[in-house]
Amino acid sequence: MRLKLVAGNWKMHGSLAGNQALLTALVSQLEELNGMRCAVCVPFPYLAQAQASLTGTKLAWGAQNLSQYDKGAFTGEVSASMLLEFGCSYVIVGHSERRALFGETDAVVAVKFAAALAAGITPILCVGETLEERDAGRAESVIARQLDAVIAGSGMVGLAKSVIAYEPVWAIGTGKTASPEQAQAVHAFIRRKLATLDADIAAALIIQYGGSVKAANAAELFSQPDIDGGLIGGASLQVDEFMAICQAAQG
Ligand code: PGA
Repeated sequence: MRLKLVAGNWKMHGSLAGNQALLTALVSQLEELNGMRCAVCVPFPYLAQAQASLTGTKLAWGAQNLSQYDKGAFTGEVSASMLLEFGCSYVIVGHSERRALFGETDAVVAVKFAAALAAGITPILCVGETLEERDAGRAESVIARQLDAVIAGSGMVGLAKSVIAYEPVWAIGTGKTASPEQAQAVHAFIRRKLATLDADIAAALIIQYGGSVKAANAAELFSQPDIDGGLIGGASLQVDEFMAICQAAQG
């Protein structure tokens, strides 16, 4: 039985005052929910605030990126061990915005993934195709390539300690959600592919869907057999939307 995980990806949004109101409301409303897990991935400067506000609550927290390096002369970078000091349970790795806007290759993503694991932080590995790749019939091969890079570095044993987020690039922040059937087909593909390497690990792995998930479509997406929750961007900044999505993930 896979416990669904709903994770908020705040992206580059927030302020100390606004975050506090959001976190306080989420913590109190999450008390009522059971049979699911919930986390927020916040910008680096707000990790201390998340740690101070969320320790001992049902809401876990994490970061949206990390360095592939352990330490050293890497101006502007943040290491996995730093994230650990701020209590991060999760770190998003390989988000399509990092891949497309900041030049992260499959190889870099694989090293970041391994760095998170080495620190004992659960990587949320984002995979997904662009519209052009989907239209060319290449969605599955792109996702397979993205997964293979990480498996080559960390093995299925490493993958077992992660969460996968299938995020079709064309559905992120666009309001265009993949239909539940479209999403389920890709999730099933991912699980099938991984099962050829290790059936038990594939069966236990949490595979989230991400891309314009909102209160109105969460329940239908989450009712699909291979969709184990969501990675939520825009809707994670609104208490009511995010809580409704969390409710839809209750088992
Ligand atoms: P969105 O973003 O929910 O705003 O589409 C999802 C994501 O990028 O993780």
